[in-house]
Amino acid sequence: MQHFVTTRDITRSDVEQLIAMAEWMRQSPRRSMRDRLLGGVVATLFYEPSTRTRLSFEAAAARLGASVISAENARESSSAKKGESLPDVFRVVGRYADVIVIRHFDESELAEAVAYSPVPIVSAGAGSGEHPTQALLDVYTLWREFGTVDNLHICFSGDLRYGRTVHSLLRVLTLFDGVEVTLANTPGLELPVVLADELRSAGLKLHEESDWSVALAQTDALYQTRIQRERFDPATAMSEAEVQDSLRGIGLKQLALMKHGARILHPLPRVGEIDPAVDSDERAAYFRQVENGMFVRMALLDHLLKEALQ
Ligand code: NCD
Repeated sequence: MQHFVTTRDITRSDVEQLIAMAEWMRQSPRRSMRDRLLGGVVATLFYEPSTRTRLSFEAAAARLGASVISAENARESSSAKKGESLPDVFRVVGRYADVIVIRHFDESELAEAVAYSPVPIVSAGAGSGEHPTQALLDVYTLWREFGTVDNLHICFSGDLRYGRTVHSLLRVLTLFDGVEVTLANTPGLELPVVLADELRSAGLKLHEESDWSVALAQTDALYQTRIQRERFDPATAMSEAEVQDSLRGIGLKQLALMKHGARILHPLPRVGEIDPAVDSDERAAYFRQVENGMFVRMALLDHLLKEALQ
């Protein structure tokens, strides 16, 4: 695996190896990890806001002994502001760092620029396209909570149209056996048709369920997401009230409809779609999910950097 900007090319064996590595790193004494990537340099370039993704990558690097160089508001504070192209950014930063972790607003610009980088590029989210490392931490979470990903029934709710975490996770789920997916659509924010077709061709069982209570009662794992308001086209955007009315979220009433062994995941940030009253329930897995992100990113950095550091 040279670059990691999409979940299209990943294999089940790649995912399983990264999960095994993340789990091993989590169980290992912290001190035994701290020199693994000593001398390595990780660059984090963020052209869109982030809390978890950037900090978990930086924490992952720190725990493995690598150093971090960072442009956390790159759209404003880097030479992008002067009009520098992404290929040039990679040519330059790739001469300082051994791996570049980038969050960018344009999926195709990123995909095209990757070829110009002398070092591995890891996407930390690209526009409304993909968020591949989030998908890794999401499946790692499913695996930890259920002991397997095969045969799970997973319900997606919120913004399936612009939610890049949804797109990447669905692609990874095609690698597992017998996974069933229910789409609890928010009108106007359905999964892009091309993606739905691609997933069905890859063998994923996808169906829609308009009755929220029915969807909740069937599901093993609910993947709740927020509405990506910042990605709406202002010309056609629905009003705040319209979206809020049709959004399916989780409060204690909805929680009561879910199976006892079910789990709720959310990539976070949440902005109203999960009532904090749900947090203390064992089924709320979203903060455990956050922690899994750091370990899976440690595993990925280790995989990408080990050779460069030989
Ligand atoms: C997500 C993202 O940036 O796509 N956040 C994250 O990385 N955990 C989800 C979101 O912003 O809604």
